[in-house]
Amino acid sequence: MSFAYQNKKLMCEGMAVAAIAAQAGTPCYLYSAHQFRENFGAYRNAFLGADATICFAVKACSNIAILKLLGTAGAGADTVSGGEIRRALLAGIAPEKIIFSGVGKTEDEIALALESGIGQLNVESPEELEIVDGIAAARRAKARISLRVNPDVDAGTHEKISTGRKSDKFGIPWPEVWETYQEARTLSHLEVEGVACHIGSQITDLAPFEAAFAKVTDLARELQADGFRLRRIDLGGGLGIQYRDETAVDVGDYAAAVMQSVRPLGLQLFLEPGRSIGASAGALISEVQFIKHAEGRSFAVLDAGMNDLARPAIYGAYHEIIPVRQGDPAESYDVVGPVCESSDIFGTNRRLPRLAAGDLVAILNAGAYGAAMSSNYNTRSLPPEILVEGDQCKVIRERQRFEDIIALERY
Ligand code: LLP
Repeated sequence: MSFAYQNKKLMCEGMAVAAIAAQAGTPCYLYSAHQFRENFGAYRNAFLGADATICFAVKACSNIAILKLLGTAGAGADTVSGGEIRRALLAGIAPEKIIFSGVGKTEDEIALALESGIGQLNVESPEELEIVDGIAAARRAKARISLRVNPDVDAGTHEKISTGRKSDKFGIPWPEVWETYQEARTLSHLEVEGVACHIGSQITDLAPFEAAFAKVTDLARELQADGFRLRRIDLGGGLGIQYRDETAVDVGDYAAAVMQSVRPLGLQLFLEPGRSIGASAGALISEVQFIKHAEGRSFAVLDAGMNDLARPAIYGAYHEIIPVRQGDPAESYDVVGPVCESSDIFGTNRRLPRLAAGDLVAILNAGAYGAAMSSNYNTRSLPPEILVEGDQCKVIRERQRFEDIIALERY
């Protein structure tokens, strides 16, 4: 645990959170370098000895310093836009270890992917096959592609983060997969190298993974038998985590299930975990502005809002909220932000020590889909991001200034 109390003070690794907040101001994101490495290391160790590349899902936490830290530890990158590809390249991640997925890649993005020589371009529709072939032809190049298939498995996760059912927009519909592979092999500027799938996020049960792996590895075997010279298989995003009372799947059990399906194929394995590497490595630190009493409720009004951490407002997600100075729980608070939306609530009925203006709280498990989803809504500045390593910390993104927010506006 990289966020833990020492003498009643919340620490991030060897640094007091309150001291960092005093320097950086609030709200701010704090990341533990150690926790990022440990979470990534759990995947790396679980797949030791296999020909596996763990490609961190850049969308979960896209700060270049974080990508650099993970890249140095051996990670590749899973990207979903030209911007994310450019971030991964700036972080020094080898193009060969970059995957590019997405239902609606633009021609410019596809061209960037081809020019950068990224390792795996996931094509998600027959329409896109033709587009990629055309772009490669114009460059007199061959595009190395995988087809992202939709195995029609219900991951049993939140409606808004499920991707592998036939009703979802992602991937090639299962009944059309075989035909699409046959079409791909007729296009002369494509090299069909792999199979990819992704069924959703925050999955806390091994069964849907196993069901998808079985379908996709069967497909790979049939394609090999049909003469496709596949090189790789990509089994998508990683494990769900414990935000509240969920039980996360053990990464060792996950790896065993993956390897049991994949080993007989003799292919390179790519995985795209994001949340399980980033979430526990980050916290959003915020200051209580004041306590407001209304209708018998106590609202702790923070200086962080849904623009800084959108998950509770969008998905009704639970994030633990803890005081930066430890004390006995004394009161129940609805912890809310200042944004003009009723959904700007981080948590209701949270038992916390008595809070007053100026007290700090930490919203945990915010290292994935936290800063990466933050916005300027209500013309609020993006918060700074600070990376802690031992007893050192550095600002890896400055607090955005008002001038930065309006810089592109013309009036
Ligand atoms: N690969 C693909 C193609 C994906 O679409 C995703 C996540 C991942 C990998 C990473 O999955 P993970 O290991 O993080 O589960 N904003 C939502 C999560 C959206 C996830 C979308 N795709 C949230 O805050 O819960």
